[in-house]
Amino acid sequence: MKYLTFALAKGRLAKKSMKLFEQIGVTCEEMKDESSRRLIFVNEELRYRFFLAKAPDVPTYVEYGAADIGIVGRDTVLEEGRQLYEVLDLGFGKCRMCVAGPESAKELLRHHELIRVATKYPNIAKDYFYNRKHQTVEIIKLNGSIELAPIVGLSEVIVDIVETGSTLKENGLKVLEEICPLSARMVVNQVSMKLEQDRIKDIITNLKQVLVY
Ligand code: PRP
Repeated sequence: MKYLTFALAKGRLAKKSMKLFEQIGVTCEEMKDESSRRLIFVNEELRYRFFLAKAPDVPTYVEYGAADIGIVGRDTVLEEGRQLYEVLDLGFGKCRMCVAGPESAKELLRHHELIRVATKYPNIAKDYFYNRKHQTVEIIKLNGSIELAPIVGLSEVIVDIVETGSTLKENGLKVLEEICPLSARMVVNQVSMKLEQDRIKDIITNLKQVLVY
């Protein structure tokens, strides 16, 4: 039997996903050894392979079929815009994509001023401002600690993930507009969905039974 390959976004999502998979018998003992530097883990008996990747690379592996199934945040799915099927909301990793900034930026947004928007998610920001709000903005791509940008004057606002809101609060910033809700998603390669239909559908059905929304 062919291996069914899973690509998991490194970090919290991967840990939670493996716990969830364990509940439906999709397991991998090798992966539990946290000191291991191995990149790929195998369950020979059940013919599963798992690997960890940087979140933005997960949709890439799945689109090209190097992984049949991916677990990644909806933020990354939207940002990467890859050809794949989004089949299941796993219900954890819940947060929101927001426009945030100092209170004073509210007026700039309201008057559709030509503002600068710093973000790790340029495609999501572009789609929101251009297609949904019909507002022309300058988008500045950053790679982390996005909240810094309005504080040091790089941008007027940011587009970023807000979970508890404490990063914003501690830095004197506020949610100004909500773009969309986010959570962990299961994505599937379009060819695998046909060729491995039975195994993948079983996994989806079993996951739905253990998921409590
Ligand atoms: C994310 C996000 C915010 C923070 C939001 O950053 O970019 O900075 O978490 O969480 P909160 O609302 O609970 O405070 P992350 O820690 O992933 O690191 P990054 O700054 O490198 O993107």
